[in-house]
Amino acid sequence: MIIAIDGPSGSGKSTLGRMLARALNLLYIDTGSMYRAVALAVIEAHIDPTDTEVVTGLADRIEIDLVGDPDSLSVLLNGRDVTEEIRTERVTAMSSIVSTIPGVRRAMVERQRTMGRRGAVLNGRDIGTVVFPDADIKFFLTAVPEERAERRFKEDQMTSSSSATLAETLAEMIVRDQRDSTRTDSPLKVAGDAIVIDSTGKTIDEVFQIMMERVSNVHRHH
Ligand code: DC
Repeated sequence: MIIAIDGPSGSGKSTLGRMLARALNLLYIDTGSMYRAVALAVIEAHIDPTDTEVVTGLADRIEIDLVGDPDSLSVLLNGRDVTEEIRTERVTAMSSIVSTIPGVRRAMVERQRTMGRRGAVLNGRDIGTVVFPDADIKFFLTAVPEERAERRFKEDQMTSSSSATLAETLAEMIVRDQRDSTRTDSPLKVAGDAIVIDSTGKTIDEVFQIMMERVSNVHRHH
């Protein structure tokens, strides 16, 4: 079974993706972490992110591995654990830039299809539209920007991965959502057959229940 979860940042994709993968005993693939690994590689190699050919060459060459179970997923870049480094503000901003490059997307989508074809929960921006258009079930998670920023802000404070204020987090999120939704190649958009869930004012468990119900309906019809 392939489950696609798309949506903007802070919509609950990764928390719920992990929960679903654990409950259904499926592989969990966080595709955003792959674009983040490319971004980190670009920063470390001092490459100009507007040089699409060079960035694409790098994306083709680097090794990206997602290892461990859903709750303790580690991201390896050329064998090195970069799980924490890819969460910095600098990498976050760069990931949204490099993910607009068609060559980078092509390379990542190919890897994601190979990794997920035996069954997985995948989360990202283009899973239901591009990566697995035939996914068994597609979710599109949303919430109002203020609530998404607040979730991200609390997360950052707990992990102390960012020193940004709530207002800065919201501003950064709006810029990134705008870029992710308006790029020409595979923009963030709702797949025609996706189940849209607005989690504004809902707890994680409430959203999880809704998703699990939908998954069991799909099971029954198969
Ligand atoms: O989900 P995230 O915030 O970790 O993703 C980081 C960036 O990567 C995000 O700004 C958009 C991009 N991305 C993408 O273009 N396609 C995906 N499937 C996943 C992420």
